[in-house]
Amino acid sequence: MARLEIRPETVSEIGDIRKINVEAFRDHPISRQTEHLIVDALRETGALEVSLVAFSEGRPVGHIAFSRAAVGDSKSGWFLLGPVAVLPGLQGQGIGSALVESGLAELRTRHASGCVLVGDPGYYSRFGFSAFPDLSYEGVPHEYVLGLPFADDAPCGTILANKAFEIEAELGAGCA
Ligand SMILES: CC(C)(COP(=O)(O)OP(=O)(O)OC[C@H]1O[C@@H](n2cnc3c(N)ncnc32)[C@H](O)[C@@H]1OP(=O)(O)O)[C@@H](O)C(=O)NCCC(=O)NCCS
Repeated sequence: MARLEIRPETVSEIGDIRKINVEAFRDHPISRQTEHLIVDALRETGALEVSLVAFSEGRPVGHIAFSRAAVGDSKSGWFLLGPVAVLPGLQGQGIGSALVESGLAELRTRHASGCVLVGDPGYYSRFGFSAFPDLSYEGVPHEYVLGLPFADDAPCGTILANKAFEIEAELGAGCA
């Protein structure tokens, strides 16, 4: 694989991050193509807590975002992963996994309670994410609502994501 580096975003990568999200989600079956808008909205409100860019041979090719989320009665300590995106021509080479692993490592250094997301268990189970009996996200089937606790406390209750995830483009809501 080409030399891969993962670093926090800088202002000069904002355009690349938008492009990566637009291209990665262009043909995604359940996306409404609002992911780039969600990332922009998180950043504008200071809610983009962790934003990592993957560079292959120095070129931005992937991005991952984490924001805080309330989980049930727990108003702090949990982060929501998403969106994560890799340029279509470079998917399947480990870049997405490297972004997820780096992001989770960063959350651990922040002493987070854990991470939650809405996504495919077939992909996210490899990082330790799983469904929990009482973990839910409004409007999403239970099996796609996943959590990864960093300590003993299992995530419990409804996930309340940042308002940016309610963003509506001309076509509707986006993929968390
Ligand atoms: C999801 C995504 C970020 C993964 O990045 P990637 O660099 O392609 O992933 P990796 O190379 O680290 O891992 C590839 C593995 O993930 C699997 N995979 C990728 N997307 C998947 C999905 N949506 N569901 C299940 N498995 C998936 C591949 O089949 C492959 O499996 P294998 O290791 O068993 O062969 C990337 O495919 C992408 O940008 N997809 C479009 C946007 C998207 O769906 N984002 C996630 C929802 S927010």
